[in-house]
Formats: sequence, C-alpha cells, structure tokens
Amino acid sequence: MFKNILSLGIILFVVLEINAQETPSDYLTAEFHTLRREKVREMMPTNSVLVFFANAERNRANDVDYIYHQDPDFYYLTGYKEPNAVLLIFSENQKDASGKVFNELIYVQERDPLAEQWNGKRLGVAGVKGQLGFDMVYNGSEFANLSIDFSTFDKVSFFDFKNDYRDKQGNADLFDLIKAFKIKSNYPTDYNATKQQLYKMITSTDVENSANVAQTLGRYLNNYPNLQEDELLSNFVNAPDQELRKEIKEKVLLVQKSTNLDSSIIAEIMDKLRETKTEEELKLLKKAIEISAVGQVEIMKAMHPNMSESEIQGVHEYIYKRYGAEYEGYPSIVGGGNNGCILHYIENNKTKVATDLVLMDLGAEYHGYTADVTRTIPANGTFSKEQKAIYDIVYNAQEAGIAVSVVGASFRAPGEAAIKVVADGLLKLGIIKDISEARTYFPHGTSHYLGLDVHDKGTYGDFKPNTVITVEPGIYIPEGSACDEKWWGIAVRIEDDILITEDGPINLSAMAPRTTEAIEAMMKITSPLDEFKLPGLD
Ligand code: GLY
Ligand code: MN
Ligand code: MN
Repeated sequence: MFKNILSLGIILFVVLEINAQETPSDYLTAEFHTLRREKVREMMPTNSVLVFFANAERNRANDVDYIYHQDPDFYYLTGYKEPNAVLLIFSENQKDASGKVFNELIYVQERDPLAEQWNGKRLGVAGVKGQLGFDMVYNGSEFANLSIDFSTFDKVSFFDFKNDYRDKQGNADLFDLIKAFKIKSNYPTDYNATKQQLYKMITSTDVENSANVAQTLGRYLNNYPNLQEDELLSNFVNAPDQELRKEIKEKVLLVQKSTNLDSSIIAEIMDKLRETKTEEELKLLKKAIEISAVGQVEIMKAMHPNMSESEIQGVHEYIYKRYGAEYEGYPSIVGGGNNGCILHYIENNKTKVATDLVLMDLGAEYHGYTADVTRTIPANGTFSKEQKAIYDIVYNAQEAGIAVSVVGASFRAPGEAAIKVVADGLLKLGIIKDISEARTYFPHGTSHYLGLDVHDKGTYGDFKPNTVITVEPGIYIPEGSACDEKWWGIAVRIEDDILITEDGPINLSAMAPRTTEAIEAMMKITSPLDEFKLPGLD
C-alpha cells in the first residue's frame, strides 16, 4: 500500500515537474500584482472606486481576430491575460450582503470546455483565485448583478471607452460588462473624457494664469472641433477678461460637482505608478532589451546586399522567439535607404537592400515588457563617406542625450541636448542654412518611457530613479530634399534603452554595437545563416 502511494507520488511529481518545465516560470508574480493594487489604493482619494476593463478583442477579417493582447494597466494590476474582464478597486473596505469585507472585485471569463477546445484554456474563477491571488472573483455574467451603488462614491474613475468593442456571443463579453457599468454608474450619453480634462484645467488654474490656460484650451479646441460646441469651453477661450473667466470657472465647478464620474484620477495614478519600475519589472524589461540587442548583433553578421527588408525582419523576430519572447512590442520597422525616412515604415517589402543604409527599429516583447532598439547599418558592410557623416552626427546627438538622462533632469533634457548637436552638424555639412531648419530632418521627439507599452506611461516630470527611457535621435533626408542630392535617401536613427539610476544612466541595449567602427567590425563576422539555403521556388 505504502509502496503504491509512494510510486503514485513519484509519478505525480514527475508529471508536475514535466508540466512545470513546459511553460516559462519567470512571469510577474501574483505578489507583484497584489502590491501594485495596494499602491493604487494608497494613491486614491477617499470614498472612490477605480474601474478597469480588459482590452477589447479586435477583428482582423471575417471570423479571424487579431492576436489578443491584454490592456497593459489591466495586466499590471492583475496578471490576467484573457479578455472580457473587469476589475474594481475601492479606496476603503466595502461589505457585501453577507458581511464579507473586501476592497477589490474581479469579474473574469467563465470556464467553457467548448470555447477552450477551440481557443485555449481559461483560468476561470478558481484559477484567478489560485494563481493570481484574488479573493473576490466572479464570472463576468454576474457583473450585471453587482450590488455596489456607484452613486454613493465621491469619485468613480475609469478610462473612457474607445468604441471599438463588439457584442460577441453570450451575456458576459466586454460589450455586456461595459453596458452594465454604464447603467449602474449613470453614464451620460454625452460623457466625454477629454472635455472633463479640459474642465479640470479650468478649475485647477488661478485667475492670474487663466489667460495662458485659455490659450492652451484654444489649441485643444482646434484639434477637437466637436468640443467647440461646448459653451463653457468656448466661452472660456474667448473671454475678453479675467473677470469673465472667473465667472465661467465657477460654472464649470458646478458642472463638475454634478457628477462623480471621472477619467483623470485613474490616468494620473497609472502614469505615476508605471513611470518607475520595480526590480521584478526591470528583470523582464532588461531581458526584452537584451534579446532585441542580440537580434541586432545577429543581423549585423548575417546582412548582405541581396537580402530583402522582410528577411531582415524575419531574422530579428526569429531570434526573439528563440529566447521565448511572445511578440514584437510594435510592428517591426526595417527600411532600406529612402524607406528609412518614413518614421514608422512597416511595409518592409523592398526586395534587395543593395548598398542602402538599413534602418532597423525593432523590439521584442518578453512577458509583457517591450524593448525599442534601433540600429542603422550599411547593407554592404561599409559606410560611405556621406552615410558616415550623417551617422556620426546622430551618434554624437545620442551621446549628448544619454549624458543628461540623469535623476532630477527635466524629461526634455535629452531632446534639447540632441537637437542642438543635430542642428550644429547639419549646419556644418551645409544641409541646412540656419539651425531653425533642423526639425525638417529630425522631426520627432528624442525620448519616451518604456515598459509594458513601447510608449509607456509616465508623468513627463523630472527623471526619477528606475525609469527606463529611449534616447533616439535621427536624421532623415528624403529624396528631393532641399540640399545636395548626395545626401538624399540617407536615414539614420540610433535608439537605445536607458535606465536612469542614482549612479547615472545605464545603456541596457549597449550589447548591440553603435559606432560605425564597431558595426563594420561586427558585420565582418560570419553568420550561421550564411549556410542556411532554401530551395528556389517558381
Ligand atoms: N519604435 C517606435 C519608436 O521608436 O518610438
Ligand atoms: Mn522609441
Ligand atoms: Mn523605436
């Protein structure tokens, strides 16, 4: 008997051990998500509730959807990767009818053997309790019976809906969850989160600064013509004096008091929280970045003039998969020559890169965290004189940008440092006649936060430790530009992922060579892909 139990135990152990090895074990932990929700609660105003919805499932064509990707805030707070779910976080403890105390609720997809046979396993209520560490977990269909009275809260904060979710099958998809929330929260049909934000700008300004705010609002209204119909906003923008602006502010305050629905508190909390990374996050982010840097190294070895843009893309993405990265963090950009001038070029369909400079902006996504690394290399292994001249300006601009990516510096510091170097460089080469023309050839920002999103959330305030940003200056000279045609078709971007620490910036993507000399040396090394021949097809 004992022997039988023992051997059963051994078999079970072996089975579990094999299963344990079948999937990665280095995801964010349930403790991480729990602690993040605690942090959210600490930042919430009293008597408030935050409501987060899972991302929508989006249609690709006919009955095929795009690969599902969880909303990064939802993932950050839950670890739940499936659609059709809603999370509620309360600032204070609540009590249900049976007297049970709780401060968060989650509604998730119900287990369904048929759906799981076709589309994969679901965690279900038990899985979310057991694996993600939630206490109060329900099937989505129960959300319509939620007994919470939203009208009793001072603030009910949620990200407004994007109108791209569909009513699918059953009564518990995202469409149904949002519908139930709208009924329960008295969501007005004309709710407009942007309008709310603009109202907030009005009510949080003092009279002395109101003229500046009116000017800023005027620019917003130009971009959102439907908001021009809002009398309070347009009257504030057009008010001739401070007195009138003060009167309008009082009216806006009254409107604000008339609803407890809000979309700014949730945004401010998530911006603050996600800007700086925990050790657990940094481990995954560093892995995504290193994987992407290896991709750049391997393509430097493998690149030859007969390659196509899509083959180059394929090499990067193959390497990501070899390391277990699930996705690309954004569509891969591989542009030879003039194609590199299109900042987010994703057609990648040039059949031969020949003697082009090839701009490769790619990032592996590893367990949710994405890298964003760009290298620009000569397809034939050697930079021409003109290519090198432009490349070196971008390199020096990037060095200047990285050097000022330090704790306490303004978020704008890398951009200001980089544009100065680019402007001076273009002026010296005679490509521009005045430094004011530099933006013609460097038309984008230099930095953004990096994390679960490639353009990650943050406050855009002064740099804090454990923030990861990109530093990515570029120069793009499309054919037909107003300069000597020897420069036409040269596009260079160099992008690295920089960890800001108390001890200064750390380049997490440094493994991929950046100087022209180091790139040329790397390109001389042979690649195993040189021997990878495929049969010709008609
Ligand atoms: N790959 C997108 C960006 O560099 O911002
Ligand atoms: Mn970037
Ligand atoms: Mn990029």
